[in-house]
Order: sequence, then C-alpha cells, then structure tokens
Amino acid sequence: MKRIAVFASGNGSNAENIIRYFRANQCGAEVCLVVTNKAGAGVTERARQCGTEVCVLSPDEIRDPAAMLGVMRRHAVDFIVLAGFLLMIPDFLIDCYRDRIVNIHPSLLPKFGGKGMYGRHVHEAVVASGERETGITVHLVSEQCDGGRVLFQASAGVTCDDTPASVEAKVHQLEYEHYPQVIRDFIAAMPDLSQLSAHKVVEG
Ligand code: GAR
Repeated sequence: MKRIAVFASGNGSNAENIIRYFRANQCGAEVCLVVTNKAGAGVTERARQCGTEVCVLSPDEIRDPAAMLGVMRRHAVDFIVLAGFLLMIPDFLIDCYRDRIVNIHPSLLPKFGGKGMYGRHVHEAVVASGERETGITVHLVSEQCDGGRVLFQASAGVTCDDTPASVEAKVHQLEYEHYPQVIRDFIAAMPDLSQLSAHKVVEG
C-alpha cells in the first residue's frame, strides 16, 4: 500500500475529498497523514473527522530537514499531495521526493500562476482580465513556483455574469471530480519505490 501525505493550509475541502476517495476505492494507496502549517485551519477538523492523523508544523519546522524528513520517515510517506498548501516546498523535500510531489493549481497554467496567485486571488484575476475560460492544472512540484511538468488540465467556461465566487465554485467542482483520479493514475504509473535511491534516503 502506497502512503500519501496531503499538505493543506486552508479549508481543506480537497484534502477531505482525497481522503474519502482513497478510502472508498481500492487502488493500492491511502492517505496516512495530513500536514498543515495552520493549527486552526478547516483542514485540521476535516481530517480529524475522517480519522486521519494531522501533523501541525510551523514554517520553521517545515524548512528544517531533520524535522520535516523525520515526520515523513515516521509515517513512511511515499507521495506528497498538495491541496491548497500555501508555503513554498523546501528544496530538500523536492529533492528527496523528486517527481513524487503533485500540486493542484486553480487555473490553466501558465496563466494566472506564480507568486501571489493562490485561491480566491486567482479567480479575481481571471474575472478582472475578462478571460472566457479557466480551469485546473495538476502538476509535479519543482523548484520553479507553479513550473513543474503538467500532468492534467480541465477547463470551465467563464461568462460575463461570473464573479470570483462563482468561478471558484466551478473550479472546485473540477477539482473534486478530477484530482483524486489524477493522483491515483499518477501513483499507479510510478515504478517500484524501493528502486528509487531518494526513497532510501527518506527511509534512512
Ligand atoms: C484549491 O482551489 C486549490 O486549487 C488552491 O487552493 C484551494 C484550496 O481549497 N490552491 C492554490 O491556489 C495553490 N496555488 P480547499 O482548501 O477547499 O481544498
């Protein structure tokens, strides 16, 4: 069974959806841990309701290789899934989990990506620009902000009646519909993790 850690900072609706999907479907993977940098975030309560362990780490702990990799090792994490996680992933973690960290971004990258573009800010920018299409992008996490290889995109129309809130609702629907399956397919396509040297480092 492959073990997934979901990282989230906010409401956590995607995190909960992913936890429930992997619990309901036998696909050789499970969410073993939720990592958050915000003790009071909605995701904390959602994960606890699901009976999934939550680890609250400060920004300093997230940036500390001993603390961060210690948590990953104790939970034998194979894959990291970002679901509204708003801190930068430190380079040592990207290196250790090379091509095993995925993120979802609420736009059609490269449009509306980069620094400051997250959550509602993205939808406000989409509406302000008069775009007639937006969507979601699932991508690998690399050292470039929102710049890793794209695994999947899906789009939704934007009309002149749309507001940032209505665009956000459309995007969330796309996220709930697609993100768990994209994660499942991505994990299923990975080679045996015991063959990867990076994995041996984490098992240390
Ligand atoms: C999601 O829309 C996700 O795409 C976005 O944050 C939202 C989290 O919602 N992520 C980013 O903006 C990352 N740059 P949730 O907490 O309800 O899952």
